Amino acid sequence: MCGIIGYCGPLDAQKVLLDGLTQLEYRGYDSAGIALFDEKSRIHFIKKTGKVAALRQVCEETPILSHCGIGHTRWATHGGVTGENAHPHIVGRVTMIHNGIIENYQYLTEKYRLGERLHSQTDTEVAAAALNEIYDGEPFEAIRELLSQLEGSYAFCIMFEDRPGEIYAVRNVSPLVAAHMGSGAMIASDLTALLPYSKKYFVVPEEQIVKLTAYSVSLYTLDGKKEAPELLEASWNTDAAMKNGFEHFMLKEIHEQPEVLKKTLVPRLNKGLPDFSDEKLPDSLLKEVSSIRIIACGTAMHAGIVARSLIEPRLRIPVTVSIASEFRYEEPLIDEKTLTIVISQSGETIDTLAALRLAKERHSPVISIVNVKGSTIARESDYVIYTHGGPEIAVASTKAYTVQIAALYLLFCRMALVRRVYSEDHARRFTESLLACASAMETMIRQKDTINELVTHIVNCPDAFFIGRGMDYAFSLEGALKLKEISYIHAEAYAAGELKHGTIALITDHVPVIAIATQKPILAKTVSNIREIRARGAYVVLLMTEDETLEESLADVFVRIPKLDDKFTVFPIAVVLQLIAYYASVQKGLDVDQPRNLAKSVTVE
Ligand code: AGP
Repeated sequence: MCGIIGYCGPLDAQKVLLDGLTQLEYRGYDSAGIALFDEKSRIHFIKKTGKVAALRQVCEETPILSHCGIGHTRWATHGGVTGENAHPHIVGRVTMIHNGIIENYQYLTEKYRLGERLHSQTDTEVAAAALNEIYDGEPFEAIRELLSQLEGSYAFCIMFEDRPGEIYAVRNVSPLVAAHMGSGAMIASDLTALLPYSKKYFVVPEEQIVKLTAYSVSLYTLDGKKEAPELLEASWNTDAAMKNGFEHFMLKEIHEQPEVLKKTLVPRLNKGLPDFSDEKLPDSLLKEVSSIRIIACGTAMHAGIVARSLIEPRLRIPVTVSIASEFRYEEPLIDEKTLTIVISQSGETIDTLAALRLAKERHSPVISIVNVKGSTIARESDYVIYTHGGPEIAVASTKAYTVQIAALYLLFCRMALVRRVYSEDHARRFTESLLACASAMETMIRQKDTINELVTHIVNCPDAFFIGRGMDYAFSLEGALKLKEISYIHAEAYAAGELKHGTIALITDHVPVIAIATQKPILAKTVSNIREIRARGAYVVLLMTEDETLEESLADVFVRIPKLDDKFTVFPIAVVLQLIAYYASVQKGLDVDQPRNLAKSVTVE
């Protein structure tokens, strides 16, 4: 979950690296650092705790004229947030930055008797020190030898003191993309740092060594064979990764949802029917699987839980949602008749990637729902359905959630069609209603000031509850996560009917409860549960459809969403829940886009 970047070329390397780290900062922001070859081929480095802005300030006070360097922004895994533990790590002739976890760092420490010589608590310094022990002037040999001893995940960028103007990089699991453009060569953790310089890029294949110079980017297998990289074209532009006038990326991305919903759906509609021919997704697979296993983390998992509520009752096949980090260790019952669907915005979440690999070992066909083109999960899946959400920079996932659900809904509709659960007319009505959800989201975005106002009543509360039944319970899981992760208010989602079996003991005067009541068949039951919490003094914010009439005494605030079929209410409800979290964070004066302890892509276990 760190951001790494390397640059060689005619531009001011210090500026290129600092600008790139700013773009990558959403991946981790405990500390940051850069290392540069100066005009006399000496390596200088600056690293410090805090955000990239703090590093930039120091660099601007002591600018180094350079055309080759590497940079890193950290999310701490091994060792606390200290200057010593910040990257780059310099050991002898080796300067190294790293994203990932070296699992056998103790072995390396003992093997090379590094104990007394280490200055930090990081596994990265151990890797750099081991490489320095191995290095005898030939970079490829030394890197190959180091990799043969390493266990774990890594994306390294390395400079050798006696190889000025050269950067070497290699990855295993952790992401790296690279490009050679008119203004030199660049390598980074993801596209957002490359976009200002090049839309053409390639994904660095695992266990292949990249060498960057000002004039070239070369790729070699571990046995030294030169490889031609597979060039890709970014579908994003630089603006897409900028705030474009919004105060925060999160607010911008909330506003983008109606548009990216349509971008995700429309290319996959053929005369109103779902069409996955571009994904080469065979109808036979969708028709013959006997169960579905959805695997993801965090918000992506919550999208899967919503999809389960839609799919299982209608297709009448078991649909199970697994937390990726649990799935790997639960001896899962999946086989070639199980369709595995993995969901990941970044396409790099290591828990989800590991789950995908386990599913494939069990011969389960894997479809991934991914936002980042060419990401590891996308490349390792049998089929990939890209959500066209554009770059999601805010750590709190918003548009990714709704486009993931849209893609899952469209996939369901295709399955329903080929399984003759839906006629073509039914399928067309379904996709038409799905597309119409864009307008329902716009309606709720326009109510953001009202939502900002209601948040003033909960923002200073230490705890909050989100309750609902059926799909509304699935929605409440995401509402609680959003509020927690960016406002730091302790929030819990609860099945409304389950509250009275213990947790209602926590409901006392003014405890805020966001009650979601959009599922008509169980509305009366949900209303009963709301009465139970009202009787105990809760401050109730009730989310419901505008066509329902409920007594005013039921809630302190009513938020009405447009009238929609129950299965589609997730889209406007998601906007409300996102805005509640967003304004709570803003009203508390917190860092909305980069909340404490978090990072955008969890590439460590
Ligand atoms: C959501 O707001 C969080 N940022 C987090 O739960 C995220 O959804 C999770 O880490 C999964 O990430 P992915 O979609 O990139 O795999």
